[in-house]
Amino acid sequence: MASTDKNKSVNLESEIFNPSKEIIEQAYIKQYESIYKRSIEDREGFWAEQAENLEWYKKWTTVLDDSKPPFYKWFIGGKMNIVHNAIDRHLNTWRKNKLAFIWEGEPGDFRSFSYHALNREVSKFANIMKSMGVKKGDIVTIYMPQIPELAFAMLACAKIGVAHSVVYGGFSVEALAERIMDADSRVLITADGGWRRGKIIDLKSIANEAMMRSPTIEVCVVVKRTGNEVYMETGRDFWYHDLMSLPVASPVCETEVMDSEDLLFILYTSGTTGRPKGMVHTHGGYAVYTSTTHKLVFDIKEEDRWWCAADPGWITGHSYIIYGPLINGSTTFMYEGAPNHPFPNRWWQMIEKYGITILYTSPTAIRGLMRFGDAWPSRHNLESLRILGSVGEPINPEAWRWYYKIIGREKCPIIDTWWQTETGGFMITPLPITPLKPGSATRPFFGNEVAIVDNKGKEVAVGEEGMLVIKSPWPGLARTIYKDSDRYREIYWKDFKKHGWYKTGDSARIDKDGYIWIIGRIDDVIKVSGYRLGTAEIESALVSHPAVSEAAAIALPHDLKGHAIHSYVILRAGLDGSKELEEDLKRHVSHELGPIARPETVDFVESLPKTRSGKIMRRVLKARALGHDEGDLTTLEE
Ligand code: WT7
Repeated sequence: MASTDKNKSVNLESEIFNPSKEIIEQAYIKQYESIYKRSIEDREGFWAEQAENLEWYKKWTTVLDDSKPPFYKWFIGGKMNIVHNAIDRHLNTWRKNKLAFIWEGEPGDFRSFSYHALNREVSKFANIMKSMGVKKGDIVTIYMPQIPELAFAMLACAKIGVAHSVVYGGFSVEALAERIMDADSRVLITADGGWRRGKIIDLKSIANEAMMRSPTIEVCVVVKRTGNEVYMETGRDFWYHDLMSLPVASPVCETEVMDSEDLLFILYTSGTTGRPKGMVHTHGGYAVYTSTTHKLVFDIKEEDRWWCAADPGWITGHSYIIYGPLINGSTTFMYEGAPNHPFPNRWWQMIEKYGITILYTSPTAIRGLMRFGDAWPSRHNLESLRILGSVGEPINPEAWRWYYKIIGREKCPIIDTWWQTETGGFMITPLPITPLKPGSATRPFFGNEVAIVDNKGKEVAVGEEGMLVIKSPWPGLARTIYKDSDRYREIYWKDFKKHGWYKTGDSARIDKDGYIWIIGRIDDVIKVSGYRLGTAEIESALVSHPAVSEAAAIALPHDLKGHAIHSYVILRAGLDGSKELEEDLKRHVSHELGPIARPETVDFVESLPKTRSGKIMRRVLKARALGHDEGDLTTLEE
């Protein structure tokens, strides 16, 4: 469905949805063009003005240091802490008693925390980590289900100047072990499990196995979530609730003074090579970027109840469940489980119950709920919703229209935000006042100049496909890849070095109105249900199975997931493929990387198309699978 829609996008350009008078009247930004123009002419002035909305222990002296591209720095000389802005500063205002967090567990249990209560939880856990000797320069790995303690742990780290590395709870043994080792983490925070579709995901067993492969962990803190029986190693593993009742867990804890450019977190994301990249984000620029984009793009008002239905284990959750909303003093909602459990009305029920005003989710979730029909949402009062959002992959117009009509009752603008782990926050996105075209992320956010170019850097004509680049730095840009600056330079900045542009890895086209239509990745990154995976990671998981000698993975269109993984393996000499082995290989990938990486198909083959230098030509496999022309095969070895 996604692919057929894409081919029709030329006609779609004329389908326009204008915002209602009410939406325009409420909006902070009433005119895009003039503010955009100003933000480009005086980029530093624009960002300095936004940074004034935060509290700084000491103000910056220079807005942007671009003396060593591509290593840009922002708000130089500024002293701050993102947690001071996300929590502390609200405590001196009436927001102290405003709800910061509302959370519902999959079994239906719920908890909520005011800013005052959030501060106590975070401070207590921060004091525990301090007493364990965790200090600035350390990176704590967090591997948790979607429960409030995940947010407490992240914020507690940032408060005491320690970096966090959150590993998505849907990842498995090898993915976790590799990330722990890359970060040299001494502390791991996890849980005895989480609920998903009525079943317990046993995170602690996965963590145990990962800790055997990655010996750096000295202390493992375990939150009791499910009551699932787990193995606890004496001297290494401690229950969170035991620690939180110790006298050292005082609810008073000073927030560490940090430099703008000090490390806030690393977050691993997939690329073209096997090793995941630890993207580095820092306190100052990231705080300014996430809070500004959250507030202006979604027109956040004091009384909003904001629900970003992503997992905090991905950048979307970091930026728009935790940091952006809390800096803005919003009430942010978090849900633990599956959207269709026990019934497909679970989300609509919670929107009604909590009076959610803005829902921000992914095309894959929308498609997944759409397939159950209109009756499920129609049973609920969704009047509280005023804005809807989408992220993760291009939204196919069919899903867009359903979301707009059935969930938004034709009153809510759909904010289709294009961005990446690397960008920290929204880059191309409508504002609530923007006339919308289903399937287009519309225009660049303030301060950002983008272009669609050919491989020489020349802008392509209207309607033509090209590479999406960003021409100028912004405060949310990842500073580097952890421990690998060369790779950072190589992946993002080498191809357009002469121009100084950031290469996004996406292809796109622009229409006659200047609207941008994202097509998809041009590298070996796959988006499965909006989750980012590298073909190389899947291939190395396959090859780690004793029966496999070589493997290739590609993405093919899939109605619900957007794309699904298809794999090809060459078995070791003397072995034959079978249905059982196919199942076993799928299980193996799922065990090593996580269920999202489980291949849809495993084909046993005798050879793989390769270039003479030995690189697998995935494009050939893809063309064959789709029955398309295989293109230029002159470099093929096979
Ligand atoms: C890739 C980045 C940023 C939060 C979630 C994903 C794709 C993201 C959109 C969108 C079309 C999109 C791109 C991008 N993507 N948002 N609105 N329309 N494509 O972050 O995991 O780093 O993935 O997701 O291909 O490069 P991520």
